[in-house]
Amino acid sequence: MSKAAASTNIESLLKETRVFKPAKEFAAEAHVRSMAQYKKLWTESVKNPDKFWKKQAEAELVWQKPFTRVLQWKEPFAKWFTGGRLNVSANCLDRWLDSGISNKAALIWEGEPATDGKPGEERVLTYKQLHREVSRFANVLKRNGIQKGDRIIIYLPMVPEAAIAMLACTRIGAVHSVVFGGFSAQSVADRIQDSGAKMVITADGGYRRGAVVPLKKNVDDALKLHDAAGQSLTKTIEKVIVLRRCANEVHMAEGRDVWWHRELDYVSDICAAEKMDSEAPLFILYTSGSTGKPKGILHTTAGYLLGTKLTSRYVFDLKLEDVYWCTADVGWVTGHSYIVYGPLANGATALMYEGAPNWPEPDRFWRIIQKYGVTILYTAPTAIRAFMKWGDEWPKKHDLSSLRLLGSVGEPINPEAWMWYHTVIGGGRCPIVDTWWQTETGSIMITPLPGATPTKPGTATLPFFGILPEVVDEQGKAVPKNSGGKLVVRKPWPSMLRGIWGDNERYKQTYWSEVKGSYFTGDGCRQDKDGYFWIVGRIDDVLNVAGHRIGTAEVESALVSHPNVAEAAVVGRPDELKGQALVCFVTLKTGVKATPELKNELRNHIGKEIGPVAKPDEVRFAEALPKTRSGKIMRRLLKQIASGLEVKGDTTTLEDLSVIAKLASGEE
Ligand code: PRX
Repeated sequence: MSKAAASTNIESLLKETRVFKPAKEFAAEAHVRSMAQYKKLWTESVKNPDKFWKKQAEAELVWQKPFTRVLQWKEPFAKWFTGGRLNVSANCLDRWLDSGISNKAALIWEGEPATDGKPGEERVLTYKQLHREVSRFANVLKRNGIQKGDRIIIYLPMVPEAAIAMLACTRIGAVHSVVFGGFSAQSVADRIQDSGAKMVITADGGYRRGAVVPLKKNVDDALKLHDAAGQSLTKTIEKVIVLRRCANEVHMAEGRDVWWHRELDYVSDICAAEKMDSEAPLFILYTSGSTGKPKGILHTTAGYLLGTKLTSRYVFDLKLEDVYWCTADVGWVTGHSYIVYGPLANGATALMYEGAPNWPEPDRFWRIIQKYGVTILYTAPTAIRAFMKWGDEWPKKHDLSSLRLLGSVGEPINPEAWMWYHTVIGGGRCPIVDTWWQTETGSIMITPLPGATPTKPGTATLPFFGILPEVVDEQGKAVPKNSGGKLVVRKPWPSMLRGIWGDNERYKQTYWSEVKGSYFTGDGCRQDKDGYFWIVGRIDDVLNVAGHRIGTAEVESALVSHPNVAEAAVVGRPDELKGQALVCFVTLKTGVKATPELKNELRNHIGKEIGPVAKPDEVRFAEALPKTRSGKIMRRLLKQIASGLEVKGDTTTLEDLSVIAKLASGEE
């Protein structure tokens, strides 16, 4: 996409008129088979949500004690299925033990290929085996002092043990917080401090493109970090469990660190599933917001499980015989909901891949699809655009005829990428489900149902059952069709976040104060004449870089923590591959020389403070930043400069016009 094309993206979406109806053969076998059926079910679900959700929760979940009430809603705090008790790991594992699928693959894992070209390892865990491993590891957690309600940080590579650790936590009622392996020691420490975690589960290392990521070393570094007042950030940590993955050398602290494999020798493989309250905290997942501090999004037991289970089945049209592959990392919400909880709650077979899409060659995904006969592929637009760039010859080398459904998530998918996915990967026969949702929503909210919804490239189409989204103006009033506005959700839903860990005020402020009585998503959107939702992107200070949410304020605070930096402003510019790229404008302290080395140092500094995912694409030095007379940085102008566009719009509040001229000319 050229810069000019990117800037008119919204218009080009408006012109998109191609419609793809579900194929008759697909619809005939699907869980929902027509628009009439979808509309009837959806209308019932939003007209009488109590009745709808009661029926679903009773039918879908295994309860140790039945619930007495469907919803207690005291805006903005929801309690779903109160009075009930259940266990997530029992719903994902135990329930299948006496069924015909106990010996079916629950997880198929493909390791990263070795540097010498040898294929990656391969492991299959049946439901029975996964149940045993989870029970054993749950006993290891107990043996190491973990009790109901304790928080545990999971910092692991993409190996089956990541899923085992998560499920083991749920089995005994511990609350997990998975930290993506690409985050730094500082990020790990911040999350430990905020969640008050008692334990970290990590590995000696993880493989990434042939190199070893030193996860245990990062944890060691995290456990040494202090705040400005000299207080340890991680004093709540009592134990570290270390999985041996890469056999790289690590330091084991006596009394604190234990090996996963050694601990297993001491435990039995029987562990009763704790009876958890419907509203017991299930996990905390940190995500970026518009301030410098990541938010600990809290999800609870019953509602989350119901949301992920139902959406997995209906959106992916999941059947027992499918080989379903979601390519996300378990460190993101997509990995939580659509590798682990949703698929396993349905008795599905989920594939998990450890490595990168282009390692050792750009055909890795297509090779895996052929090898395992993958039937459903769920990936991100940024990956699709990268595959497009690498060329059709890579997918063409492999037999992709097993695929029957494709999914997309994480950012708006541009129609060009949609069409390529449809033709080159889907062979023109696979429906595409473009699924809109968020860490906060827990499960998919706006999506086609593949046997029912006619799709159009670039839109996530219509709401899932029980979900009532709307596009509204500044006053919170619904806007007419085809006008842009803010995307809100009008009614609570079971898998919604229950809050921000330890910060009710921020929860209210962020999500429930922008539009009265509704959940504010932070996304801009418009509805077309058919009521389809077209997401335009974030309207707050959050960027979506390669499908990862990055708060500009977070990167700014990392930059100003560098001794040479006086001030920084971070904005996004459209990027062909990543959707958005991070551009940092930096004013240095007096006397500091602006050198290319320093630019590099600042990029690495951000990598150290937040993690490699947040490393900016460009660092630009600026003598001064454009500011309003009241001292606010004018990011709108910086965005235009970063995109190479002419600076337009109102600059009357700008304090010093010459700043803009200098920035635009690239003078440093
Ligand atoms: O801006 C939307 C975008 O990703 C944001 C949520 O990011 P995160 O919490 O990291 O979760 C990503 C995976 C669910 C949203 O606010 N987004 C996600 N899916 C789509 C999307 N934008 C357009 N279309 C989508 N299908």
